[in-house]
Amino acid sequence: MAIVIIRQDGKIDLWKNALLEADPLLEVYSYLEEHPKEAITLALIWKHPKGSLTPYKNLKCIASAGAGVDYIFEDETAPEDIPITRIVDPYLAGDMSEHVLATILAYIKNLNAYKLNQFKNIWKPMDYKRIKDTTVGIMGLGELGALTATDLSKAGFPVQGWSRSHKEINGVSVFSGKDSLDAFLTTTGVLVCLLPLTPETTGILNKELFKKLPNRAFVINVARGGHLVDEDLLEALDNGHLSGACLDVYHQEPLPKAHPFWNNEKIHMTPHYASVSDTSSVIPQIIENYKRLRKGEPLLNEVDRNKGY
Ligand code: NAP
Ligand code: GLV
Repeated sequence: MAIVIIRQDGKIDLWKNALLEADPLLEVYSYLEEHPKEAITLALIWKHPKGSLTPYKNLKCIASAGAGVDYIFEDETAPEDIPITRIVDPYLAGDMSEHVLATILAYIKNLNAYKLNQFKNIWKPMDYKRIKDTTVGIMGLGELGALTATDLSKAGFPVQGWSRSHKEINGVSVFSGKDSLDAFLTTTGVLVCLLPLTPETTGILNKELFKKLPNRAFVINVARGGHLVDEDLLEALDNGHLSGACLDVYHQEPLPKAHPFWNNEKIHMTPHYASVSDTSSVIPQIIENYKRLRKGEPLLNEVDRNKGY
């Protein structure tokens, strides 16, 4: 039994060293080095090149090194008969919650707008909003969305959330299912997308949805670029229905230099770094699953292949 790490972001050594530090007896390889392919039973991957899982005929588990698994379902060559696991981790959820809080505070206190004016030597006081008057609506109340909703509520924001199944979250008004989406949107001043990317949620942030938000609403997409119809966002910002947007994720990453988002002053961008798996915190669940695999026990954080998340 051995582990292969497949990722293209220059972090293979970081993950390999973290695994070996936690358990020096592990057999761990980079997919780029010579290694015995038939020995590999677990692939620890993040945005792997399509087709790179096919050499591993004895693979028993695909472990996503992040919370999202959309990129695995997009690879038609990935094995369909073995479990997929994902990361569930308090730092991953906490970092997302902090990122969303920072983004909303910057928006209601005009911090990004002032920064733009500073570079143009413009002195222009702007009306600000208060936390208590800013209703935040969170799409997706899973590991990340539920904590973000709870933390925002504790900070004093009126918070509502939308998910597929009903939830009880202290301080948060919960809407569930397609039929309640419109009611959720009409009272949402700041919309936060924390849905997984699935066939059902692809393109969900589109012009029809934006029209249902109150005038001058603000949109935050920290989930996946595929949730957003880029042209519809640009149109809703241009016609003034939306007051601004903050994006962390894009259809293509890095975002191509010619993309119109770069030069739009109403869009604030971060480079898909809202929350990142912290090896020291998440390695134990990978090793635990590797042990469980060997013993034939149920795995932690297994993805439901039918739901796609
Ligand atoms: P999760 O625990 O699987 O939660 C997903 C939530 O979305 C659940 O509440 C689920 O409803 C809801 N949902 C799924 N499909 C839906 C639909 N069709 N209609 C309504 N609600 C639906 O996921 P998570 O761990 O919170 O992560 C969410 C996403 O965040 C990830 O998939 C990833 O794309 C993104 N992410 C981004 C970053 C970043 O740095 N930007 C970092 C980590 C993760 P139920 O509860 O009813 O199933
Ligand atoms: C990051 O985007 C993740 O899915 O963990």
